[in-house]
Amino acid sequence: MINTHSVDGPVVSGANAFMAGATETIHWLAQRLSHRLMRCRQPQFAAGASALASILLPVVGARADGPAQTPSIFAPVSTPAFAIRELAMFVLGITGIIFLVVAGLGAYGLIRFRRRRGDSGQEPPQVYGSRQIELAWTVVPVLIVAVLFLVTARYIFAIEQRVPSADTLEVTVIGHQWWWEFRYPRLGIVTANELRLPVSDPAHPTPTFLTLQSADVIHSFWIPQLAGKTDVIPNKTNRMWVEPQQTGTYVGQCAEYCGLQHAGMLLTATVLTRDDFARWVAAQQAPAPEEAQALRGRELFASLACSSCHTVKGTSANGVFGPDLTHLMSRSTLGSGVARNTPENLRRWVEDPASLKPGSLMPAMQLSHDDLDRVTAYLLTLR
Ligand code: CUA
Repeated sequence: MINTHSVDGPVVSGANAFMAGATETIHWLAQRLSHRLMRCRQPQFAAGASALASILLPVVGARADGPAQTPSIFAPVSTPAFAIRELAMFVLGITGIIFLVVAGLGAYGLIRFRRRRGDSGQEPPQVYGSRQIELAWTVVPVLIVAVLFLVTARYIFAIEQRVPSADTLEVTVIGHQWWWEFRYPRLGIVTANELRLPVSDPAHPTPTFLTLQSADVIHSFWIPQLAGKTDVIPNKTNRMWVEPQQTGTYVGQCAEYCGLQHAGMLLTATVLTRDDFARWVAAQQAPAPEEAQALRGRELFASLACSSCHTVKGTSANGVFGPDLTHLMSRSTLGSGVARNTPENLRRWVEDPASLKPGSLMPAMQLSHDDLDRVTAYLLTLR
């Protein structure tokens, strides 16, 4: 957790975001449970419910300081995620009933047949080879599993069936150790870590189809409020789609262990109105601005090793190992969510990336104090 405490402000690291998600989910379940219990006539249940609420409510208060968005699967905003919640509720319902039946019978057995004073201590009559009982405990579970299997298969096929149309936005997601590259091939945009999508309203359905590829090892792309989890595998192309119906920023995280900075692979999807999205596209398509006062830094950037890993459109820098920096300052974080994108953090990142993200594949460039200032000043113009 070195990274999150060493930078200004409450940076949403992947781990933090997911802890908050777990808290949110527990809170959601507890709230529903306590509402149910409060309505119960039995006074002992009502007392239990208010005790439970008093334990859990401070958790809600504490949450307000944390990240504003939490990736709860119980708060979907996109078509596949709605379907997944529906299915999850169905499975939770069936398994909940199984739990109640099994735990209920267990408790009944324990209480009804407990040892009493005056028991002879003899073993009760044993039942051997009852065909009825054996059939019952084989057939019933097989039927339950078959129902769960068929319902799940129906949901999977319904989600897979969606085909892209002419209006579909296509984005290629490339997992890297340890950041996300987003390419919009039809729009000529390349960016990193912060996905921008248009909202889909019933009048203009605009789903986004994602093509998932990896540059190195297996990663997994997961923004719980938008869709299910899909692995990002080297030499294999996976496809998925999302159709967000609400504007806002939704956080996600690499969900497959991929090395030292697996937890430092935060991603966000910001869903914009159609107009805002068009504005963002126009701004991203523009070449990097050239500002006279940043000329020295620009030359340094081109002459140093920076340009062999990073692209800045409209300059000689055309490397593809690291993130495209053409509009670096339009992004709110550095290093895939490990630090806020402030001038101080940016300078520190160029000086020694490992101080913010240990294991980062970008080397420390060993620049002099002045050169560091110049390169940072140049990067700050890349809006
Ligand atoms: Cu990439 Cu875990």
